Amino acid sequence: MGCFDFFKEKLKNKHRRSAPISATASHNETSRSTDSGAGKPTSKSSGSSSSQRSLPALYEEKAQHLRVFNLKELRNATNDFSRLLKIGEGGFGSVYKGSIKPLGSKKDSVTVAVKKLNQNGLQGHKQWLAEVQFLGIVEHPNLVKLIGYCSEDGERGIQRLLVYEFMPNKSLEDHLFNKAYPCLPWSTRLHIALGAAEGLAYLHEGLEVQVIYRDFKASNVLLDAEFNPKLSDFGLAREGPLPGDTHVSTAVMGTYGYAAPDYIETGHLTSKSDVWSFGVVLFEILTGRRSMERNRPRHEQKLLEWLKQCKKFSMIMDPRLENQYSMKGAKEVAKLAYSCLAKNAKDRPKMSDAVEGLKQAMQFTDLGGPEESMEEFASADSDDEKGVDQTNSTESQRRRMLHLAKLNENANAVGMRKFVMMKAASST
Ligand SMILES: Nc1ncnc2c1ncn2[C@@H]1O[C@H](COP(=O)(O)OP(=O)(O)OP(=O)(O)O)[C@@H](O)[C@H]1O
Ligand SMILES: [Mg+2]
Repeated sequence: MGCFDFFKEKLKNKHRRSAPISATASHNETSRSTDSGAGKPTSKSSGSSSSQRSLPALYEEKAQHLRVFNLKELRNATNDFSRLLKIGEGGFGSVYKGSIKPLGSKKDSVTVAVKKLNQNGLQGHKQWLAEVQFLGIVEHPNLVKLIGYCSEDGERGIQRLLVYEFMPNKSLEDHLFNKAYPCLPWSTRLHIALGAAEGLAYLHEGLEVQVIYRDFKASNVLLDAEFNPKLSDFGLAREGPLPGDTHVSTAVMGTYGYAAPDYIETGHLTSKSDVWSFGVVLFEILTGRRSMERNRPRHEQKLLEWLKQCKKFSMIMDPRLENQYSMKGAKEVAKLAYSCLAKNAKDRPKMSDAVEGLKQAMQFTDLGGPEESMEEFASADSDDEKGVDQTNSTESQRRRMLHLAKLNENANAVGMRKFVMMKAASST
């Protein structure tokens, strides 16, 4: 099946903007709705206007550059998906380094990353389709470039592949947590945080349709040769609410440790769900700790819980930085992170505000600075602490969190790490 065929079909229904979503997600997975706060939309992108075009129309206009590969070409490009060329494996499939000849040019081959999605039927197809439709319409220095795709249904099942620009410096996750890599300097951490924030702000506020990324985490922030960050993995992305709607109702999907508690609780997805995940990653950048580390003592396993136990600000900072950071700048970043983790999604900043906050923090270039207690954050995060506690505040939510964790453990067990899915509370 070709992507274009799919979208042409949908274009016949121009007035129904939700069409590609309900086809991308299963028909009962995603819907839009206003909640009891009707008339008070929580998150309206600046791009949201009544004259905005549909996703298929945008795809028709903007995705012409995508190259359609056949399986044979990609076999050749990756030496028949050689294990020696395998560079990663995620919840959706394996990634190989490959090389392709640019079309219609005598230029040298270019290095690419080829993701071969697991052959798990409809789910794999849905992830693939979401990547093609969203990465096909976006263009931003902080989003990974999709070069093309392959879709073949043969005797050996469905084959869905994606071809991306190659990112030579792995992911933020590798550089923050893998001790085999040298410590990421403070200025590089800020540069990466800023770029990632700009990528998210573009998705939320810079397109004709709003795009909610839904899987923001350190492993999805890839790094180019100059350590510029680019968001990858759009398999869970969704179109945001229509003007007048407050949220999109979905089955809860994402990654345990990064998903916003309000989204887990209700299945109501807004751009502020991404903002929460961004706050978690900011704390990973500050602390050098993963959002969830099961091999630590119980009370230290959840990053957000551990933060509450730290009495002095310098205690939270990554010891690998060896105090080579500006205390004032780090505190600014921590304040921003806490605001992203506000209990009430409406109180979280827009990503464009987060971009400004990070730019402010980058103004502080003097290393060191006065040590202070964590109390100064008490006012900023008093609500937010409740927000974090809220994770376990109701019995139903506690059950959902346990379920989510369990699913995640199972996913780990079969190598489908960190990918989780749960029935939407909102569909009840
Ligand atoms: N465009 C790319 N260029 C270079 N390496 C890539 C590219 N895309 C992915 N990779 C590598 O493949 C790895 C696996 O990516 P993938 O997105 O499939 O899984 P993940 O992000 O680790 O986990 P998850 O499935 O939970 O998102 C990445 O961590 C990265 O090292
Ligand atoms: Mg990924």
